[in-house]
Amino acid sequence: MKYQVHSSKSLDKKTECLVLAVWEKTGPDHSPLLDESLSALANAVFKAGDIKGKTGETLLIPAHSHAKAERLLLVGAGDAARFDARAYRKAVRAAVQALNKTPARSAVITLPQLKIKDRDAAWAITQLTLECSNAQYRYDHTKSKKAEALHLKSISITVPVAISKKQADDAIRAGEAISLGMSTARELGNLPGNICTPGYLGNKATELASRYKSVKVKVLGEKQMEKLGMGSLLSVGRGSKEESRLIVIEYSGASKADSKPYCLVGKGITFDTGGISLKQGLGMDEMKFDMCGAASVLGAMESVAELGLPINVVAVIASAENMPSSTATKPGDVVTSMSGKTIEVLNTDAEGRLVLCDALTYAERFKPKTVIDVATLTGAAVATFGEVNTAMLSNHQPLAKELLELGEHTLDHVWQLPMNEEYQSLLDSNFADIANIGGPKGGTITAACFLSRFTEKFHWAHLDIAGTAWLGGGQKGATGRPVQLLVEYLRQQKP
Ligand code: BES
Ligand code: MN
Ligand code: ZN
Repeated sequence: MKYQVHSSKSLDKKTECLVLAVWEKTGPDHSPLLDESLSALANAVFKAGDIKGKTGETLLIPAHSHAKAERLLLVGAGDAARFDARAYRKAVRAAVQALNKTPARSAVITLPQLKIKDRDAAWAITQLTLECSNAQYRYDHTKSKKAEALHLKSISITVPVAISKKQADDAIRAGEAISLGMSTARELGNLPGNICTPGYLGNKATELASRYKSVKVKVLGEKQMEKLGMGSLLSVGRGSKEESRLIVIEYSGASKADSKPYCLVGKGITFDTGGISLKQGLGMDEMKFDMCGAASVLGAMESVAELGLPINVVAVIASAENMPSSTATKPGDVVTSMSGKTIEVLNTDAEGRLVLCDALTYAERFKPKTVIDVATLTGAAVATFGEVNTAMLSNHQPLAKELLELGEHTLDHVWQLPMNEEYQSLLDSNFADIANIGGPKGGTITAACFLSRFTEKFHWAHLDIAGTAWLGGGQKGATGRPVQLLVEYLRQQKP
């Protein structure tokens, strides 16, 4: 998609589609781009009741005989006094969807000129760009008929005078870069387990390094992990013929090479059968999405490299396939993690924490400023938050607060759960230093408590994306969350 900033007061040349907001109370927005006849047309359809202005409502009006626009796309924006970030995103999404159903190859979108509660123009532009680019994503990797390219190729964004051309261009670039990372995350998530294996993820990371000079990648196999003492990570892939991988991606953007990095850690279980603690059959196919944490971390690294952020970032991805077999880890087996702590594997389906703990210990060597891990870790997070909020737990409240606020700002929502000391004893084991499950209660919390035993040396936040990484049912597919949150977090950081 080609984006350009349109700042003039009128349409200088004919557009294939002009996108305009309609308010519930007052009708069509008074955009300076409307000439008399377009304005009369919009007012007439509003008066006639063809569009009421409810948020997300759309109406396409052919206007081929008009001098400046072949079509007018009206988009409901609701009550102007209550027009907030949520309403803006809803209107933008609806507009883009409707736009993509038309044959228009180019469009002028005036929505970023609207006044949004608690958000500035840069936010509006980034969000618009992100939504437009995200709407272009189609999954067709494993379909014999490839998806047809959409007609829409170029978007002109009209912006308020309050923002400079440079700021607007930066905002566009951010939206595009985040969308790029999100589509990588979605594609990897959507690929089936027989294609997207730990080795495949390793190759994707290597590809990233070949595209960006600022990125270096190291992919460790089982032998190398054996040497590092990663007995916990390795225990998960024991039952699979697919070799486990530890993927380390280093991005250098800070002017001082020795500037301490921010670290992202991702759970990359490319299929989770549960292992010997086998899952029930219904819906098990969705466990191909159990590498969405890894996918979001990889996607975020791509965005960071694309943006050339002036910081250093390291990603550590722990990838394995969790299968039952005669060589698989059994309930009751005790394994030794890289940290030296022994773990009693009471349930082989609680495998995410087993791969993450060794990846987190590995992260120590970078002396990271902060560590954020991303994982489809617990069904309990789905039960608690559904598809709306990512569960967040942390050992450092300032980091938690920052993520909480950014979740609200980006609409890539997170909500914090507590990690009181009292939960820790649920992980006691008679046969090892720690058990890998904490019983039936507080599943998301006890999973984070397990991880917290391996994160004492740094500021850490855990994002449980089990409910937010993909949608089920008719819209089954990866969402690309929380790439936006991660990238916006990193954009805020100093070297
Ligand atoms: N990958 C699953 C978590 C999951 C389940 C994510 C359903 C999304 C939807 C994870 O490996 C798992 O199986 N967790 C268990 C832990 C339990 C055995 C303590 C769970 O949540 O049931
Ligand atoms: Mn599992
Ligand atoms: Zn899992």
